[in-house]
Amino acid sequence: MKTIGAVVGTKTKPNTPSEFHFWIPSWEESISIGSIVKAEDGMRRVYGVVVEMQGYSDIDDVLLHQLSRGGDPEVKSPNKEQSVVVCTARVIKQESDRPLREGLVSYPSYEELEETLTVEGCNIPFGVFTNTDGTSIPVKVDENYLLGYEGAHVNISGMSGLGTKTSTFLFILSSIFAHSKERVACILFNIKSDDLLYIDEESPYLSESDLEIYEKCGIKPSGFNARFFAPSNALSQGDSLRSDIEIFRWGYREIRDYIPSLLKAGDQDQREKLDTAFYDLMRMAQQRNIVSFSQLLEFMERELLPPNKGGSELIHGSYKATWGKLYNQIKGLNSKYGGLITEYEDDVVELPYQELKDRQVWVIDIQQLGFYARKLVFEKVISEFERRLESKELKINKIILFMDELNKYAPSHNSIEVASLKAKLIDISARGRSIGFSLFGAEQFKSKVDQNIIGNVSTDVYGKTKESELMDPLYKIFSDEIKDKIRRFSKGDKLVEHELFDAPIFVKMPRPPCMLGSDKIRLTHSSSLLKAVPY
Ligand SMILES: Nc1ncnc2c1ncn2[C@@H]1O[C@H](COP(=O)(O)OP(=O)(O)OP(=O)(O)O)[C@@H](O)[C@H]1O
Ligand SMILES: [Mg+2]
Repeated sequence: MKTIGAVVGTKTKPNTPSEFHFWIPSWEESISIGSIVKAEDGMRRVYGVVVEMQGYSDIDDVLLHQLSRGGDPEVKSPNKEQSVVVCTARVIKQESDRPLREGLVSYPSYEELEETLTVEGCNIPFGVFTNTDGTSIPVKVDENYLLGYEGAHVNISGMSGLGTKTSTFLFILSSIFAHSKERVACILFNIKSDDLLYIDEESPYLSESDLEIYEKCGIKPSGFNARFFAPSNALSQGDSLRSDIEIFRWGYREIRDYIPSLLKAGDQDQREKLDTAFYDLMRMAQQRNIVSFSQLLEFMERELLPPNKGGSELIHGSYKATWGKLYNQIKGLNSKYGGLITEYEDDVVELPYQELKDRQVWVIDIQQLGFYARKLVFEKVISEFERRLESKELKINKIILFMDELNKYAPSHNSIEVASLKAKLIDISARGRSIGFSLFGAEQFKSKVDQNIIGNVSTDVYGKTKESELMDPLYKIFSDEIKDKIRRFSKGDKLVEHELFDAPIFVKMPRPPCMLGSDKIRLTHSSSLLKAVPY
């Protein structure tokens, strides 16, 4: 094995059990940030990933350097100054917790790299690591940390488009489906145009290098086995850009538990009054076997809003004025939420939760819904699956929930608007691992996501990220050079941090195995252009 450096600990840069330094000869040009190297001292072998590189020389002063060349940069100095490049490597594998005194540095062989990067139990490839000597190997994470019971939360962050968050998720999902030992399915919400509406189609855009990554990771790229759902519109058709979509439409029974979070109140006092009135109303409705909004409104008109009483008179524990406000808001739900909510029991079409199958993806298209309606769909769908997973009523035992724009629905700041959804997501990220409910979140700015959620992440994937975001204290764990590399990433470059890794690893991820909405548009556009060309 060719020697490419020598270990050295100095007064100002001593080696420690978790870090060692080495200098490289002037002819060595391959080592860079992210390289994995092996240091050998006698029988001892220590593997590390290069996280810092610094060039030293014996020149004290820039003026001296300039003077010795007579002010001309091209003039060679009669005495060549000494210079050296020193690399710092973060230890990723060693047998004892002791610093290295000295040693020779070389590249690990394929087998050594495999042994270094493969932690026991890790079986799900998260991209391919290519060392700077050209050796490349899949980087695997432990599925117990992805799908429970050790952990169940993956976070993917990066700039819009260039961070390729959705593509990363879809690649990871294909890897989990290819290698997991569990019965696992996935729930996705389409919130951007037709972003996720064609994931059942194979991608026509995979390059040679993409296919190579898929092959190394043992994945056969293809479209997913997927079902697509959307709320109905006023004409009872799916409110979606995809025409062959299955519809759903909810009535009073389906959404009653979520109505309190949909009610609008001017202040806290009004909110409490509305909440109390609503819970009383739910109780009364149950006693009277009320199952639809039309029955509920009719009951309210008859018993809670009698024309002969004034607004400040108490009826069934609340003022008539409060019942009036509640009535107007409940009546307004139907028009406010379009075809998603129906007044009549006969019109209800519930999602077939029980039918979710192993290796299946459900795409729930809510891109045409407003903020509050989306929130309702998120909360209800998540709760329905959570309950069924917990009571083991499903054909599967693990569900991956992909939440795009996590910072919007679980923001780091307090927001009354999303309080109940955020509480649900925090609960999933903390408790989901014990019931097999995994949260896979994606966002542009990880620093804008709630701390409780971030604290529960067991695997992080970073794509290209803006400098201003990298300045957040959250990224203090990374050296300036690593941050710089993340800032300069191209689309397939990612940094993976996993609970069982001693250091983060740079990997390459391929284009997604299936068709993205943006790619479909490109394809349709280019084929229509072709058709437009005359003979
Ligand atoms: N490894 C890759 N190499 C080159 N192009 C890629 C790669 N991965 C994804 N892409 C392409 O980059 C584009 C953007 O990807 P993607 O939609 O995943 O980004 P995003 O971060 O989710 O964007 P947004 O923030 O807008 O949701 C897509 O056209 C996709 O095909
Ligand atoms: Mg996206």
